[in-house]
Amino acid sequence: MANSEYIIWKKDYETGIVMVDRQHRILVDLINKLKDAHNQKKEKEVLRETIIKLVDYTKFHFGYEEKHMTQFAYNKLDGHKLQHQVFVKQIVDVLENLKLGKYENLTEEILNFLSDWLIEHILKQDKEYSKFYKMKIKYA
Ligand SMILES: [Fe+2]
Repeated sequence: MANSEYIIWKKDYETGIVMVDRQHRILVDLINKLKDAHNQKKEKEVLRETIIKLVDYTKFHFGYEEKHMTQFAYNKLDGHKLQHQVFVKQIVDVLENLKLGKYENLTEEILNFLSDWLIEHILKQDKEYSKFYKMKIKYA
């Protein structure tokens, strides 16, 4: 089984919203920890704990963003929320499989999906949301 590559944080990933950027970095760390647990073939308990943390933190972070977007009446809130929901469902499915002992389901493809999704989402949807937010506070 090939190793999945760790995410290296780039300046380009910053949205300029301090709390959001801070939370994104934590998400990147958690995904890297999961990749590490997988690559190093750590015990199943480590994998399980890491994925539970990732699921919990992802839900917290999406909740934070959605609350913020609601507060400043973001015009693309619904679409953004839907993206979050789809992603949460994907990672919860992985967690449920792990709980059932199906560790073979945590593959390099899944791990790469997690990191590709997050980075893509930050670069497109989150940057779009921060742009809107900055315009709004500028002319408020
Ligand atoms: Fe988001």
